Amino acid sequence: MRMNKVRTLRIMKMKETNQKIVMLTAYDCFMAKTLDEAGVDIILVGDSVGMTQLGFEDTLRVTLDMMIHHCAAARRGVKSSLLVGDMPFMTYKINEDEALRNAARMVQEGGCEAVKIEGGENFARFTSRIVNAGIPVMGHIGLVPQSVHQLGGYRVQGKEEDDVIRLINDARALEEAGVFSIVIEAVPPSVGKRITESVRVPTIGIGAGPFCDGQVLVINDMLGLTDKKPPHFVKQYANLGNAAKKAVEQYMEEVRNGSFPDEAHCYE
Ligand code: KIV
Repeated sequence: MRMNKVRTLRIMKMKETNQKIVMLTAYDCFMAKTLDEAGVDIILVGDSVGMTQLGFEDTLRVTLDMMIHHCAAARRGVKSSLLVGDMPFMTYKINEDEALRNAARMVQEGGCEAVKIEGGENFARFTSRIVNAGIPVMGHIGLVPQSVHQLGGYRVQGKEEDDVIRLINDARALEEAGVFSIVIEAVPPSVGKRITESVRVPTIGIGAGPFCDGQVLVINDMLGLTDKKPPHFVKQYANLGNAAKKAVEQYMEEVRNGSFPDEAHCYE
């Protein structure tokens, strides 16, 4: 349990002081409160909400209004953790004014303290416009799921040296644009290490090995709250999906055989 509010400055300082940053996703008030009370540094309302909660195949159908709805719910559960919200598909790439207007809605209506946007050098100007307006931005490079069709699927990035150089340039461009941290997704550990050593801002890895300054996982994957096979890099710390199924089966049995409600669960 942590007493002090986490802010972006603290996150940046953690790299200097060699403290690992812990980030997890949450999409509703209860889960956000649970993570906040546990002492997670950053809670990300990811656009993975499209798959974990809304039954979509990918993140592309998640809209700004959907994100704001889920961010606002998480906001009501968070006291100390830094709350970051994903800017969804095409809400920050059309022009800089629109990017800023949409980021402002994430803060004002969703209660986010920072936004995350996918993309590197090509999108640095959108990032700096948002940062210059006073909204902290987290970058996201490597496997960027909103570009899944362009990438040809969810595949490991940075396999060739040219790609690694491009990723390092992306990270540097984002740092220059003013991001306070960068998510690196799905690269070999050596690439995660090289990118991490190339920038002063902290990196937060997902499937990017142990050398990043922090780690993030999708909460449904790490708690086993999914019917999909999680990616290879996920460690499942619990199987709450199975536990829920077992509890429901017991309830059904007890309702059907009349043993619930018993005396203890009835008014006098
Ligand atoms: O949407 C999301 O959950 C994310 C994390 C995987 C970093 O972007």
